Amino acid sequence: MSSTTPARVALVTGAARGLGRCIAEALAAQGNALLLVDVLADRLEDTRAALAATGATVAVHAADISVRAHCVAAVEAAVATFGRLDVLVNAAGLMRFNHAVDVPEDEFWRIMQVNAAAPLWFCQAAIPHLLETHGNIVNVLSQSALMGTSYIVPYSMSKAAAMQLTKSLAIEYIDAPIRINAVAPGSMMTEIAAEASFPAGIDRDKMRRYSGERPVADPAEVAAVVAFIASPAASVVHGAIWTADGGVTVG
Ligand SMILES: NC(=O)c1ccc[n+]([C@@H]2O[C@H](COP(=O)([O-])OP(=O)(O)OC[C@H]3O[C@@H](n4cnc5c(N)ncnc54)[C@H](O)[C@@H]3O)[C@@H](O)[C@H]2O)c1
Repeated sequence: MSSTTPARVALVTGAARGLGRCIAEALAAQGNALLLVDVLADRLEDTRAALAATGATVAVHAADISVRAHCVAAVEAAVATFGRLDVLVNAAGLMRFNHAVDVPEDEFWRIMQVNAAAPLWFCQAAIPHLLETHGNIVNVLSQSALMGTSYIVPYSMSKAAAMQLTKSLAIEYIDAPIRINAVAPGSMMTEIAAEASFPAGIDRDKMRRYSGERPVADPAEVAAVVAFIASPAASVVHGAIWTADGGVTVG
């Protein structure tokens, strides 16, 4: 434990880049000390250095969160480093485009491990600490949790599972001093989209249904929503699936 325990400590997964990094920046601006987790060790170190240069208190824990023990170890690292945990943000995610009938079994399970199982393992390990600090959890979902989205069936399944994790935990802890919520973004300008490869023979019109009418969001805009829900200002927000999709799921 550090000699001075920070007032608030947040753990953010997927913080090496994209939305997770923006969430880390927004939580640092609120004064949270940060433990940042990602499998991309070099990019994670870049994020740490950039945040530290702004005066933030930040530590990193490089890990593949598809393994339960790594999730538990990351939470333990946050508490060992800073002495407490107030906020858990499950932002890491994995998406692959494929025809549903062609999805290989290993691709399906990898997506489920990272997007659905890892948030549960992080919650399991973090909840005892969050109950002590009256803290909160924000799970990053997707519009894919709320609507059918073609060519990303395992991703959509995994995000719906993380939504039910959020709602079911919120009920299980309805009488406890902890808030559990989720944010469901629409499309954002990040590397998850830039790195996407599309299989032959897809019908782009079926994807336009979930592309939205408004411009693709900057991840910093979605991070601001996550940071608000994670903050004491959102004290009455519990069990919410808060969309941040520019209206894609409104119908
Ligand atoms: N970009 C979008 O259009 C969009 C839309 C809706 C929801 N989301 C969600 O937002 C979140 C952030 O995604 P992003 O758009 O910033 O993409 P991104 O690919 O830039 O970020 C995802 C991060 O998760 C990390 N990650 C993946 N697998 C991991 C593993 N096994 N262990 C540890 N870290 C791992 C990656 O290394 C990466 O840093 C994800 O949960 C994603 O599903 C993204």
